[in-house]
Amino acid sequence: MSRFLFLLTVISFTTFYSQTITSPDKNLSLTFSTDKEGIPTYQLIRGNKTIIRQSKLGIELKDSPSFDKGFVVASVDTSTFDETWNPVWGEVNVIRNNYKELQITLVQPFVNNRELILRFRLYNDGLGFRYEFPMQDNLNYFIVSNELTQFCLTGDHTAFWIPGDYDTNEYYYTKTPLSKVDALFGKTVNEIFAKTVIGKNFVQSPLMLKTNDSLYINIFEAALVDYPAMHLEIDQTNFILTSHLVPDAVGNKAYMQTPCESPWRTIIVSNKATEILSSKIILNLNESSKIDDTSWIRPMKYIGIWWEMHIGKSSWNYADLNNVSLTATDWKSLTPNGKHGATTERTKYYIDFAAKHGFDGVLVEGWNVGWEDWFGKWKEEVFDFVTPYPDFDVEEISKYAASKNVKMIMHHETSSSVTNYERRMDEAYLFMKKYGYPAVKTGYVARIIPRGEWHDGQWMVQHYVRVAEKLAQNKLMLNSHESVRPTGLHRTYPNWLACEAARGNEFNAWSVGNPPEHETILPFTRLMGGPMDYTPGIFQIKMNFYDPNKTEQIHTTLAKQLALYVTMYSPLQMAADLPENYEKHLDAFQFIKDVAIDWDDTKYIEAEPGDFITVARKAKNKKEWFVGAITDENERTATIPLSFLDEGKKYIATIYSDAEDSHWENNPMTYQINTKTVSSKDILKIKLAPGGGCAISIK
Ligand code: NOJ
Ligand code: CA
Repeated sequence: MSRFLFLLTVISFTTFYSQTITSPDKNLSLTFSTDKEGIPTYQLIRGNKTIIRQSKLGIELKDSPSFDKGFVVASVDTSTFDETWNPVWGEVNVIRNNYKELQITLVQPFVNNRELILRFRLYNDGLGFRYEFPMQDNLNYFIVSNELTQFCLTGDHTAFWIPGDYDTNEYYYTKTPLSKVDALFGKTVNEIFAKTVIGKNFVQSPLMLKTNDSLYINIFEAALVDYPAMHLEIDQTNFILTSHLVPDAVGNKAYMQTPCESPWRTIIVSNKATEILSSKIILNLNESSKIDDTSWIRPMKYIGIWWEMHIGKSSWNYADLNNVSLTATDWKSLTPNGKHGATTERTKYYIDFAAKHGFDGVLVEGWNVGWEDWFGKWKEEVFDFVTPYPDFDVEEISKYAASKNVKMIMHHETSSSVTNYERRMDEAYLFMKKYGYPAVKTGYVARIIPRGEWHDGQWMVQHYVRVAEKLAQNKLMLNSHESVRPTGLHRTYPNWLACEAARGNEFNAWSVGNPPEHETILPFTRLMGGPMDYTPGIFQIKMNFYDPNKTEQIHTTLAKQLALYVTMYSPLQMAADLPENYEKHLDAFQFIKDVAIDWDDTKYIEAEPGDFITVARKAKNKKEWFVGAITDENERTATIPLSFLDEGKKYIATIYSDAEDSHWENNPMTYQINTKTVSSKDILKIKLAPGGGCAISIK
């Protein structure tokens, strides 16, 4: 039967079309239907509760009719998929990818029979769906001007949100009903330099929601590779969320050529908060690794010449200059300001400390020329990424690090002059190879060049992926800061160990900081897409230690800083404080030395967004477990059944917890360390101070 004839047949009976599939465990059901105008819609039900009411799907195109209505269903395919795979690194060593798939091929008979495929994957814990634009005679290049995807919710759910913003996600979270969201407050967050708040009722994804009947819903996206990031516009009366894409410099959203597809839109749902944290939907919806030989990819624990700049003890810049152009300056003749952090001597001190305490790497920021004139000028040529300051002997340092079996971590602050970075990155990566740097931390502070682009638009999304790809070709690893938030792409590019892309610990050094609940929300939001380089482990909590005029502080106890190594999953973990501060608390520092960074298994024991998280993880290829428990500003008792331990065996647990009188604000640096023999029958009950936490190693 010719396609034309087939279509005619289909049109005659598909004005209202409806098809339902259920998840492998039958708990979720997804209904696709078209309404009388031929608008595609979907609906998601869990048990007998509606999660997403009938919601519209569609894509608005620029300069041609939209993919929004007048559709008929040309064909329908359903299938089941069930496989397991092993991540290169991760929270668990085996991941099951089990879903029912529904593929709907839609045709617009009145627009030259243009075709659009909707692909739904229904898991036991949620749904992923995307738009696919097949190769076809009547569609080749096209521009997306809007995405019309709706998520029609059933009520005024509680939301954990940050303002929708084209440039940054470095906000702290606010918890309100959807009807009370006022994202304009983002404009007053002065400590974020490059920010572009969208409007009052726009929030970022991942968006974490809780319903009045205690269902947890997380809305996000997976596999963002060639498309802008998705924000959510809230209809505050009808509780409808609509996809809002980050535009480019001329206001378009995405430039596409068939065959192509959108990222996946995801809805994870459970009656247990812990199951949101253990969901693997985002990873499963990403493509498998594009890197064949992954043997060179290694999780890393590192220290660095970094915090000392954030607390003002030393500087990134070598000299203090005003209005001097980098290109016109002979760096060798500058007068040093006496505060430069990245010196050969100081680097060797860090290398010695890393070697002594078993760290894999040392990051050094401010090693390369350009920091005198890098910030906020929207300047095209700032860094060249290959010229060290005169007091940083790269040759000598790389030899010294190699002799101590410590890896150097490169730093490329691009100052968001991305055109400049693109021109120079080949040479910069060769430089890294020459001096034996296996990993780079990139940074995108300030406004983007090409001017008019935003951090989270399609052009920048492509750039971040290009960096990961180019690094992979060179067998180098990546930790990107101020990049778009991750969407599970570390499955495809496992050399992309971590991103920042949220408000990290650094904000505690020089701003109002991160409220005690912050770290209990991040795993439900930003970390849904992948690991975060949060940079935990700050022991010197109050900044007035360095300068009596300072009022800033870390908003946790010291014990909670330890717990973050377990609760905030990352294969790249920094011990962020100064070696001098660790020397004063070597007993507590022992936990940071011991804690694993790659895992065979993970058990989320108890969790509530905004309140607490307790998690246990088994170290990769070892019979050791590590537990982290954190709380918000409220004191709490963590209840930890050790049933994950092998039955009948005895273990030694070392418990690093808050002291009786600890408090994040008044008394943050007191802690206690106790050891005891435990077995799988034990249930530990551990008191967490306000803003406190507890870290346990079990061997
Ligand atoms: C912002 C990054 O997040 C931070 O870690 C870094 O030190 C500064 N940029 C300077 O590049
Ligand atoms: Ca940052």
